[in-house]
Amino acid sequence: MTENTTHRTPRHTTRIVLAERPYGAPTAATFRTEDAELPAPADGELLVGHRYVSLDPYMRGRMSAGKSYAAPTPVGDVLPAETVSEVLESRHPDFAPGQLVVAYGGWQSAAVVPGAHARAVPENGLPASTALGVLGMPGFTAYAGLAEIGRVRAGETLVVAAAAGPVGATVGQLARAAGARAVGVAGGPEKCAYLIDELGFDAAVDHRSRDFAARLAAACPDGVDVYWENVGGRVLEAVLPLMNLYGRLPVCGLVSQYNADGGAEGPDRLPGLMRTVLNRSLTIRGFIQTEFRARHWDAFQREMAALVGDGTVKFREDVVDGLGNAPQAFIGLLEGRNHGKLLIRV
Ligand SMILES: NC(=O)c1ccc[n+]([C@@H]2O[C@H](COP(=O)([O-])OP(=O)(O)OC[C@H]3O[C@@H](n4cnc5c(N)ncnc54)[C@H](OP(=O)(O)O)[C@@H]3O)[C@@H](O)[C@H]2O)c1
Repeated sequence: MTENTTHRTPRHTTRIVLAERPYGAPTAATFRTEDAELPAPADGELLVGHRYVSLDPYMRGRMSAGKSYAAPTPVGDVLPAETVSEVLESRHPDFAPGQLVVAYGGWQSAAVVPGAHARAVPENGLPASTALGVLGMPGFTAYAGLAEIGRVRAGETLVVAAAAGPVGATVGQLARAAGARAVGVAGGPEKCAYLIDELGFDAAVDHRSRDFAARLAAACPDGVDVYWENVGGRVLEAVLPLMNLYGRLPVCGLVSQYNADGGAEGPDRLPGLMRTVLNRSLTIRGFIQTEFRARHWDAFQREMAALVGDGTVKFREDVVDGLGNAPQAFIGLLEGRNHGKLLIRV
């Protein structure tokens, strides 16, 4: 490792590591920037230089030591992230220098990655950055979770929270394309206006408004058939009484809880939840998108590229310049300061 950044070789990387585990919201002390020299790629590996680093809510989970669906990031390690990167050196037969790939390259400027875990950025006429958003993991999450769990039908009402983000926006637009009524929940008037004016949602409700539950009920006069759970907390509380018989709740994320290391405070509402599940014959099903990769990835790539290409599904990116701004951008993601898929342009 070297502190000297004046003579950068292609194998130099500036990287952001987990300095300490956060308790509650991450702070500047959670992160540390380092400079390092990467090893030469071995057989089967690629040296890649990153163009975009994807910042996603799941990374908060990796910062904590608690049990989850994936192992925590060890303190001192580079934080994990998908990247759109250029191949600089290839020791894998499927990739050549100059090619753009999606890799698991982390919060840094360059990395050595296994070629077996990289995939070419598809040539579909769309910006390469979309391979991290609407045509990547978040878009796939929306597509597969709806196909497998939400199964929204024409005439039904779907409510989705974090609706202005890459998962929620795609869920709402796919529901509209299926002939359903889409109601978005988002933070603030600007995001709510965007949902209706730009994305064609039927209604949008600001979860920060004082009379949020009443506004949500008014926006769902026929009740709710699918509640796409992205946030948990008071949004879930407001939706539950509105659920119709045989309603479905794909549990995709609980972002309002990710910083709650001490556990959520307040009264025990589990008995009320279970009563509603029983009375309305609800299906609540959690999922991690990787579960559906083998079954849906190829169809997703084809269909979503067509839907984005013909304007049925629109997307928005929130691009922050410079790796050094990644910590603040990530802290903001968990507070709703992003508007659209959050990306770091390296
Ligand atoms: N299960 C899976 O495989 C999978 C895969 C990808 C993503 N996810 C989950 O899907 C959800 C959305 O992900 P994304 O990438 O599309 O993120 P995103 O919407 O770009 O960012 C998260 C958003 O959550 C909202 N939020 C934050 N704190 C909140 C709170 N206390 N109450 C209500 N809303 C709050 C904010 O939007 P507002 O300003 O609108 O409040 C923020 O912009 C996350 O929960 C994520 O973990 C799951």
